[in-house]
Amino acid sequence: MPQKETHAAEDSNDLKPGSGILNKAFLSDVLEGLHHPQKTLPSKYFYDDKGSELFRSIMALPEYYLTRAEMDIFRNKTTELIATLSLDKSKDYNLVELGPGDGTKTEHLLKELLAQGYTYDYLPIDISQHALNGLVNMLAETVPALTVKPLQGDYFIKLGTIRSDQRPKVVLVLGSNIGNLSDQEAAAFIDQLSANLNPGDKILLGVDLVKPQAIVLPAYSDAQGVTAAFNLNLLDRINRELGGNFDRSQFEHLATYEESEGVARSYLVSKTEQTVTIYGQAFHFDAGESIHMEISRKYNDTVINEILSNTGIHIQSRIMDSRQFFADYVLVRS
Ligand code: AVI
Repeated sequence: MPQKETHAAEDSNDLKPGSGILNKAFLSDVLEGLHHPQKTLPSKYFYDDKGSELFRSIMALPEYYLTRAEMDIFRNKTTELIATLSLDKSKDYNLVELGPGDGTKTEHLLKELLAQGYTYDYLPIDISQHALNGLVNMLAETVPALTVKPLQGDYFIKLGTIRSDQRPKVVLVLGSNIGNLSDQEAAAFIDQLSANLNPGDKILLGVDLVKPQAIVLPAYSDAQGVTAAFNLNLLDRINRELGGNFDRSQFEHLATYEESEGVARSYLVSKTEQTVTIYGQAFHFDAGESIHMEISRKYNDTVINEILSNTGIHIQSRIMDSRQFFADYVLVRS
């Protein structure tokens, strides 16, 4: 998955307004975003401990179909998924996963690949050692025959360290995580991924598909307000880590989506005219003025092909869930 954020705070000696260490990248991204005419905050900062917990709650919401749709592919179409990957049983693979999370989807694929006689090592890459430890322990129980080689750190730095390994690679990028990037950023991400692959290597890219507003919009404006809390949590994080004074009760969450465009957008809208101070800088809000928080891109072949143009990567095939909400694309490095 596209990296949520690097932990620059660990390298910095600056004190933050309260106590502890200032994350300089977080501060400059926040201040820069709030200086734009359309105020914006980067969604990659959603995932502090509370934000990660809220995202786990989102994945279990009745309206949030994405996780269940991709799970449908991994759990119920595993044989078809492996056929779609068209791997060679005489070869020894490195199966790499970027941002594996708790690995519940991947587990089905890992088991079935072993059952069908494929030989491979599983290399999950994540910025969080804690997440990797949980995953390794889980797989030791559920897939004991599997060789797991966890890599903690930046995706591309870690991919670079296995570049010279001649075994062919399959890189999993699941969960429509690429959808939180603009198409331009997604193309840059795929391009960087491509630079770390060898000809014939494959990517399994999980993406949410363009579909009607009646299905997509509720996924980003759930009835229980968990998505609203997920967005508002970033204001709390800014207050805590950057000495901000956002009053979260003075903002409300708004999601938009038009099928013709295929992009869900989240905003926090100021309920009143107000001024917020962050790290000594004042930001004025008119009543009704919004902060753009996140995009969640929805895809089809045309969008994917546009993103892939000039990256040396092309579509080999794709597999969809039973309701055709979600697709895992098999991409190949030429
Ligand atoms: C992580 N990402 C794919 C989620 C999405 O669907 O865009 C993040 C999310 N934002 C609100 N709900 C879920």
